[in-house]
Amino acid sequence: MNEIKIFCPATIANVSCGFDVLGLALESVGDEMVVRKTKSPEIRISKIEGQQLPMETNKNVAGVAASALLEKSNYEGGFEIEIYKRIKPGSGIGSSAASAAGVVWAINELLKRPFSKQELVTFAMQGEKLASNVAHADNVAPAIYGGFTLVRSYDPLDIVSVHTPKALFATVIHPQIEIKTSDSRKVLKANISLEKGIKQWGNLGGLIAGLFTEDYDLIGRSLEDHVIEPIRSILIPGFDEIKSRSLEAGALGCGISGSGPSIFALSKGEATAQKVASNMAAVYHGIGLNYETHVSSICPQGIKQIN
Ligand code: HSE
Repeated sequence: MNEIKIFCPATIANVSCGFDVLGLALESVGDEMVVRKTKSPEIRISKIEGQQLPMETNKNVAGVAASALLEKSNYEGGFEIEIYKRIKPGSGIGSSAASAAGVVWAINELLKRPFSKQELVTFAMQGEKLASNVAHADNVAPAIYGGFTLVRSYDPLDIVSVHTPKALFATVIHPQIEIKTSDSRKVLKANISLEKGIKQWGNLGGLIAGLFTEDYDLIGRSLEDHVIEPIRSILIPGFDEIKSRSLEAGALGCGISGSGPSIFALSKGEATAQKVASNMAAVYHGIGLNYETHVSSICPQGIKQIN
C-alpha cells in the first residue's frame, strides 16, 4: 500500500473532571487526510483544504508529528500529506489532535504497523506541543484508541482504554469564536486546594466506574468540574444558561469541551441528545451569536481508513 485515506475524529478532552487525562472520540465529526509514500526522505504537506494553516512541515502540527515518527523509524523514504479540515482550529474539539494523530496513524499503516498505539500517541503529542506549548495527550489518545481514554500517567506514558456505554451520545455546541488552547491555559492557576482535589478525584473515579458499569446516573453525578470550569467558563458566552438548559432537556451532564469555547453534554440516547442540541441552540439564537451544533455517538474505533 502506497497511499491511505483516513477519517480522524474530533475529540472532547477533559470531560469535566479529567483535566489533561480524560478524553473521548466523536463518531460523526472529524477531518479527512490522504497520506502517501514518497521516494524523497522528507515530510511534505502538499494540500490543505477547509482552513488557512501553515504548509511548512515544521510549523504544521501534522508535519511535526510525522517528523517525530520518521525520526524513530528506519524507513528510508518520506511522506506527502493532504489535509481536509472540517474541524475548526480553536473550537475545543481537538482540531490539532485530529491532524497530529491522523498523520502518525496513517504512516504506521503504510509502514505495516511498526509502532504501538501508545508510541503513536507520543509522536502525536509533539504536534500538540507545537499547537498549545504543552504536549497533552487527552485529545490524541482517544483519536488513536477510540472511545474514552484515560492518561493514567504522563511519565512514563500509560494510556488506559475505558469502556464506552452504547447508549451514550454527545452534543456539542460551538459558538463561532476562537479560543486558543495556549491562551485558555494561561488563565489557569498552577495549584489547587486539597478540598477541590478531593471533589475532583472523587468525580473522576465515579465517572470511570460509571462508564465501566454503564451506570448512567453515576456518570451524570460525576460530570462535575470544580477546578477548571469555574475559571474558563467566564470566557464562554452564555455558558451557565447553556448548561442549565442542557440539564433541563435531560442531559446527564454538561461542561466545557477541551479548552473551549465549545460546550459539550452527554446524554443517554440520541433523542435526548437532539433535544439538548435544540435547547443549547435556543440560547445562542436568543443572544444573536452564530453557532454550530453536533450530535454524535462515541466513536469506538478512533481513526479509520476510508475510501
Ligand atoms: N486538556 C487540554 C486543556 C485539552 O484543557 O487545555 C485541550 O484540548
